[in-house]
Amino acid sequence: MKLTLEKSDEHMMQIINENDVMNSADVISKLRDLVALEFNAIETYEAAIERLEDLDYRAKITEFLGEHERHLMELCDAIIEEGGTPPDGGDYKQFLTKGPVVLAGIGGDKAILQAMLLNESLTNRLYENANDEIFPGYIQLKLKQALGDVRHHRVWIESAIEQIE
Ligand SMILES: [Fe+2]
Repeated sequence: MKLTLEKSDEHMMQIINENDVMNSADVISKLRDLVALEFNAIETYEAAIERLEDLDYRAKITEFLGEHERHLMELCDAIIEEGGTPPDGGDYKQFLTKGPVVLAGIGGDKAILQAMLLNESLTNRLYENANDEIFPGYIQLKLKQALGDVRHHRVWIESAIEQIE
């Protein structure tokens, strides 16, 4: 449970016991779930880019896709660093949400962006959860950056949808 104790966060970081940092097996397991999330996001983004008509939207979504691809690579690097093996296509398929499937059945930029917003709500929620956990420091840093990215994506998509209305 994340409490709103912004000012004491720094102090809390200092009193974290070494033993509270999760072990490598837990790190790997949790990062593999995030890899699945990123695979799903990337497939959803690719489906959206194919269907969006507005070139500005398509360019921005392509830029965001690049950030998701970077997250994926960083997560895989961290899994390897912790002694694990990143999931391959067969492993992650079971985690796929319906994002790409839903996108295949809809048309119109507004509807596409609304489906993207649902997908982005999922990435925001799961990265928020991940940021509440005590990963090794170098991974926490990457997770914090990734959360910043997906928050930006969500805000941009929300405002783009409002503009269409
Ligand atoms: Fe995103």
